[in-house]
Amino acid sequence: AKRFAVIGHPVAHSLSPRIHATFARQTGIALEYTAIDAAPEAFDAALAAFAAEGGVGANVTLPHKEHAAAICNNLSDRARRAGAVNTLVRTTIGWDGDNTDGAGLVRDLTERHSRDLRGRKVLLIGAGGAARGVAPTLLDAGIASLYIVNRTASRVDALADALGEPDRVHPRYLDDIGALGNFDLVINATSAARGAGLPVLPGTLLAPRCDAVDLSYGEAAIPFLSWARAAGAHLVIDGLGMLVEQAAESFQRWHGVRPYTDEVYAALRERDD
Ligand code: ATR
Repeated sequence: AKRFAVIGHPVAHSLSPRIHATFARQTGIALEYTAIDAAPEAFDAALAAFAAEGGVGANVTLPHKEHAAAICNNLSDRARRAGAVNTLVRTTIGWDGDNTDGAGLVRDLTERHSRDLRGRKVLLIGAGGAARGVAPTLLDAGIASLYIVNRTASRVDALADALGEPDRVHPRYLDDIGALGNFDLVINATSAARGAGLPVLPGTLLAPRCDAVDLSYGEAAIPFLSWARAAGAHLVIDGLGMLVEQAAESFQRWHGVRPYTDEVYAALRERDD
């Protein structure tokens, strides 16, 4: 069986091994998919060891997505614009990098939740690896504008530069969030709930029938989703659907077959509730 892995820190609770095992069973493809815990300073050695043991593809999760982009020999267009990689494909000379996070989010919104993203005014909160992954594909999906706010100004400016669409992309400082008007879609891509806590967000961010998405799931998504519900958001969803869809996109990249996602999504959702 071909060998795959997800590399992160922490990674023990990653759902990716289970998702890929389900896809493997469904499609009849033999594969092994494990989780590798590697601290930032150990990432390069862990990836080299994985390759030496026959590893042919890997997912990269936090906090390694930006570093992974830097070590690739070749980047897909969306990974280059993101400056972040979540999917590695082994080649004879090294690694190709792609980023399927944005495609996963867009697919979850447009297919599972029947949303039309075209013409929407979108607010992305955060400019780390998670935000970087979804920004290029949101733009490709035809949104009208993308406001990105971040606590650290240099990081949001760097992301806006990498996206290269000054007419549609507006980097802002988190402290100025109250002056941005309202949005049709608000996305939380910060890790704030896992640390100091969600920053204060004004309810006026939500336009009528605004949708709200947290890119995380489980406990970490609760503060933002509670805020969005209280503020009157229409659709309020966590990142579980995106997780399953980005996995399907990576699976297709590695195996050339698109798996069905409904079965594993339903099973994980049931466990979560
Ligand atoms: P991830 O891969 O989850 O995106 P990351 O790259 O460490 O992880 O990025 C975390 C994001 O959450 C960043 O945008 C970070 O803001 P800074 O760039 O200013 O660090 C944001 N973040 C984390 N804790 C936060 C907090 N308490 N308030 C606001 N933003 C926070």
